[in-house]
Amino acid sequence: MKKRVAILISGGGSNMVALARSMGADHPAKPVLVLSNNPDAAGLQKAADLGIPASTIDHRQFSTRTAFEDQLHTALLLAKPDIICLAGFMRILTPEFIGKWQGKILNIHPSILPLFPGLHTHQRALDAGMAVHGCSVHLVTPELDGGPILGQAVIPVNTGDNPADLAARLLPMEHRLYPKVLREFALNSKAKTSLLIQGK
Ligand code: GRF
Repeated sequence: MKKRVAILISGGGSNMVALARSMGADHPAKPVLVLSNNPDAAGLQKAADLGIPASTIDHRQFSTRTAFEDQLHTALLLAKPDIICLAGFMRILTPEFIGKWQGKILNIHPSILPLFPGLHTHQRALDAGMAVHGCSVHLVTPELDGGPILGQAVIPVNTGDNPADLAARLLPMEHRLYPKVLREFALNSKAKTSLLIQGK
């Protein structure tokens, strides 16, 4: 039986599209739901175009983080996901929520973790004088961007690069890495994968 995958987004959804397209007929998983916290996320239409049920739970409609997460949890329970992929999902999840889906939530983060958790990763990599930059797919634990790393992709930092240059070269690497990790994870969520992809 195929594993059921829910994908949480906040914006353009290009990682969501890469994940969804990768889940073809011979894949051990299938997308069952795309959820956005942002009603204006361009990814919602992309999900609908791919034939994946897509809906919004607007965090601004809730007075507390917990109330928002309760709604998120309810929507997920209905979709019965085996795996939840955070793909450009820009809300911090509480330890209580993460505990309810322990070991099932993956995230992609645009840095070579454990370096540069949090925001503005491209600028911070440049500020630190890094010769390499990259992205990481990791299991989500209560520590922000701190769970076990399942795969990483790296690119060189070139002279004169600005944050937008790094973001533009890194995004296609994200689109390669996340589907690879998802496939491995869907086949065996207990295996310690550590995929490495090198880009230009
Ligand atoms: C990606 O760079 C992701 O790593 C970061 O936000 C971006 C989301 O892009 N957290 P998209 O919504 O998948 O196009």
